Amino acid sequence: MEGAKHEQVFWQILRVLRRRMDVDFTAYKPMTLKRRIERRMVLQQIDSEAEYLVYLHNHQAEVEALYQDMLIGVTSFFRDPSTFQTLGREILPRLVATKAAGSPIRVWVPGCSTGEEVYSPAICLLEFLAEDSLTVPPIQLFGTDLNPRAIESARAGLYPPDALGVFSPARLDHFFLSVNGCYQIRQAVRERCVFAQHNLLKDPPFSRLDLLSCQNVLIYLEPMAQRKVIQTFHYALSPHGVLLLGPSETIGTSTDLFAHAEEHKRQLYVKKATSAWPLVVGDVRRSPEEQYQTQVRRKMGWLMKRRIGSLISRRRQIVCWPVLPRPVSSLTRRWKSSTFVETRTPT
Ligand SMILES: C[S@@+](CC[C@H](N)C(=O)[O-])C[C@H]1O[C@@H](n2cnc3c(N)ncnc32)[C@H](O)[C@@H]1O
Repeated sequence: MEGAKHEQVFWQILRVLRRRMDVDFTAYKPMTLKRRIERRMVLQQIDSEAEYLVYLHNHQAEVEALYQDMLIGVTSFFRDPSTFQTLGREILPRLVATKAAGSPIRVWVPGCSTGEEVYSPAICLLEFLAEDSLTVPPIQLFGTDLNPRAIESARAGLYPPDALGVFSPARLDHFFLSVNGCYQIRQAVRERCVFAQHNLLKDPPFSRLDLLSCQNVLIYLEPMAQRKVIQTFHYALSPHGVLLLGPSETIGTSTDLFAHAEEHKRQLYVKKATSAWPLVVGDVRRSPEEQYQTQVRRKMGWLMKRRIGSLISRRRQIVCWPVLPRPVSSLTRRWKSSTFVETRTPT
């Protein structure tokens, strides 16, 4: 797509998706989205973007097909096996050692597609605990994705044989059950994994996590949205928490929030203790700092009006002495923990 007209049609297509599917794709890299639109146009044998826009207006099934294409659900078990080796050999022993007896190991996999990226660390954890004959502590894995169809498949945990080439026959037999020519993850693993639809750019995150694995999602996002997501991950992890990104992804400029966990495995990061910006759930196209400042300004304005209003009603005159009950710094600190920090977890 080239030229102002094409650009305009592109944004109109995104608007159709927002209205009909309730998803805002403006935080995603336009080049990838444009390639997906072109692919759909070829499949529908439509030559011009303007014509495709009209087609979208009149065919809800095509809106849904484009939405599915744009989310790109490509995934597999143990993508990048060497990272999982490092996870099993070096990271998990350290994580498990930090846990108090009986406290659960919590893992979140946002953008988990059809579940393989959730079942992989689940298997890795169970193998590690069995190898060291450790008592299995409570394990909770949360898999979330924007795509409800992917979440349905993830819950079923049913995979065709060609998706399971990475497993030896013994491992396959240990973790899967043969069902009508497919393989289903055994109940012992499935019962530790909870799946839910969740928009990483909009919905409140999980919290108190030991491991957060989010591979091949950030690459599709614009830098500002990537930064917001990394900030969300920092908030969601426990002090000792570990972040796992995809091989082509990094924490970008957020070096104040994370450090490499292992010199030889650049996708694994540990959370840094820092007084980061508090989490603001909202517009991913504005930086966390901007959003935070705007909300502080709004809150200050509201508080001043309320204080002046109550003085007027009590004394029936305008009193122009300092209206702030406390120094600004202590106010902002209080707001950080009450108004702006979202601590709910999705169910
Ligand atoms: C390329 S797949 C990666 C799957 C898996 N993480 C992996 O690496 O094997 C990208 C996934 O991210 C999901 N996704 C895209 N935007 C999302 C968002 N805003 N919130 C949650 N999931 C999202 C897509 O639906 C898709 O399943």
